[in-house]
Amino acid sequence: MNAVVGCGVDLVEVERVRRARKRWGERFLARLFTAGERAYCNGKKEADASLAARFAAKEAVAKALGLGLGRFLWQEIEVVRGAAGRPEVQLSGATLSRAQALGVGMILLSLSHTREHAVAQAIALAGPVTADEAEERR
Ligand SMILES: CC(C)(COP(=O)(O)OP(=O)(O)OC[C@H]1O[C@@H](n2cnc3c(N)ncnc32)[C@H](O)[C@@H]1OP(=O)(O)O)[C@@H](O)C(=O)NCCC(=O)NCCS
Repeated sequence: MNAVVGCGVDLVEVERVRRARKRWGERFLARLFTAGERAYCNGKKEADASLAARFAAKEAVAKALGLGLGRFLWQEIEVVRGAAGRPEVQLSGATLSRAQALGVGMILLSLSHTREHAVAQAIALAGPVTADEAEERR
């Protein structure tokens, strides 16, 4: 059994992403999202909703790690596509170091979106977590 180290949730209005994209275009996307995230979302019918969900995910993960706004780099929290389309979290840089310092071995993430809203929930678990244990929790 791995203890829960932290949890976080975030809700985003998809319209905010739509507006920011219109105003700042690719520059806005490149600052917040990794190349992989942008490629994945741009391939979706509702790209803005998927981007908003990933924006929410980054905030939710930051909350789970006890990091406030401005205390993490957006690109250091990446949402990647796992088996069957399940979203997974990949950390890097100072955010990864922070997670390691807290003893976090795995972060569970769930996303949901409509045309208007996107929500993300993140649960940070103490590590280490084996691949078999991770699979059992799905
Ligand atoms: C996952 C699923 C329930 C999403 O439900 P929905 O109400 O249509 O959409 P929501 O807005 O609530 O959720 C969408 C998000 O769910 C996540 N998601 C997709 N597949 C998932 C899965 N298997 N498990 C958990 N989350 C999943 C994605 O992050 C997606 O957001 P994205 O498209 O921006 O990446 C639906 O897509 C589904 O049933 N997929 C089948 C996946 C599956 O289990 N296949 C079995 C193997 S064949």
